[in-house]
Amino acid sequence: VSALASPLAQLLRAAPKPHTRRAATQVARLVLLGTGTVGSAFVARYQRLRDAQRALPSLHSVANARGQVACAGDASAALQAAVSMPRRPAAGGPDLSALAAGDVVVDATASDAIAARHPHWLARGLHVVTANKRGNGGELARAQAIARLHGRAALYGDSATVGAGLPLLQAVRALVAGGDRIHAVEGLLSGSMGWLFDRYDGMRLFSGFVREARAAGYTEPDPRLDLGGEDVMRKLLILARAAGIPLEARDVAIESLLPASLAHAATDAVDAQLGALDAPLRERYQQAWRDGARLRFVGSFERDASGACRAKVGLRALPATHPLCGGSGTDNRVAIRSCRYLDQPLVIQGPGAGAEVTAAALLDDVLRIADWMPGEA
Ligand SMILES: NC(=O)c1ccc[n+]([C@@H]2O[C@H](COP(=O)([O-])OP(=O)(O)OC[C@H]3O[C@@H](n4cnc5c(N)ncnc54)[C@H](OP(=O)(O)O)[C@@H]3O)[C@@H](O)[C@H]2O)c1
Repeated sequence: VSALASPLAQLLRAAPKPHTRRAATQVARLVLLGTGTVGSAFVARYQRLRDAQRALPSLHSVANARGQVACAGDASAALQAAVSMPRRPAAGGPDLSALAAGDVVVDATASDAIAARHPHWLARGLHVVTANKRGNGGELARAQAIARLHGRAALYGDSATVGAGLPLLQAVRALVAGGDRIHAVEGLLSGSMGWLFDRYDGMRLFSGFVREARAAGYTEPDPRLDLGGEDVMRKLLILARAAGIPLEARDVAIESLLPASLAHAATDAVDAQLGALDAPLRERYQQAWRDGARLRFVGSFERDASGACRAKVGLRALPATHPLCGGSGTDNRVAIRSCRYLDQPLVIQGPGAGAEVTAAALLDDVLRIADWMPGEA
């Protein structure tokens, strides 16, 4: 019987071709997906760190929804070339076939199609670093696949997905690793919504503040994702799953701020429809003001002794002395209750939106990965 006819050989032939392995001397490479607000800030910081001689993977290419540009050494030039590409009706997805195990994919898009590839890339041994919440904040099966693959052949860096790098996820994971049970998380999880309700005075138009927040890069590319609660809902999913709770989007009760005309508007009609927010929010503000309360957009989950979890997102009128009314600007402010922090929660506060802090969180993850050896999750 020849060796090739053996069951093992047949199995080997049927198995998918192993992906290209990096030569021991080859430096890891990085592909950036997304050249918008966050992607551009990422390149600026990447360039600064490289100039300061930090050991970072070399930039292989930069891609957006219009195409992909190879980098010949100058990261800013590659970014510029990608940003200037014309709109094309049906550009294919990024081509990552040249990458090998140990290379890094940075996802600075909000694309579900891209997030759906995260598990596949991890399985190929490519590290994934993401600001896109649709990976482990997407459908539960996707998040579970990512969690299973993280630390096997590659790492999943998600620091930028919640709190734009604030040590929120880190704290939850450290508590769980230390044997604590997370009982509840409650807080201002959206820097843009925090900024809006910190600024809104009930006199000037709410829609004007939304436009200002969008121009400053605080809101999601489509501000309805913030105003409708989806952004906070995804962050809650990520935090809950990090706490070991298999929460699905349908388990979160969301009170959207979007009137129907805005919720159903075509993307290019959103700006024209923002005014529909003004009257209802003015009324909510005035009621809160009469009650001596402040409006805050809060996300929370709590689980009881049986393990049942209640999660919700929405606008709340809180007494001015409430802990969640502290903080200002784009601050996130989150209270975590666990076995050891039961009566007095652990409170983490700090800037939780903006391209600079988000790009810094992405690069922190890239630097952590550069120091990692497989097997040390
Ligand atoms: N802004 C913040 O403060 C902040 C904070 C934390 C997390 N984030 C997250 O960071 C991500 C990016 O936000 P942003 O504000 O930078 O958005 P943005 O300015 O709209 O940029 C999104 C980029 O993704 C690209 N893109 C979309 N689909 C793609 C695809 N299939 N393949 C490759 N590229 C694709 C777009 O390409 P085109 O240029 O061709 O359209 C664009 O360059 C989002 O997931 C957001 O939730 C943002």
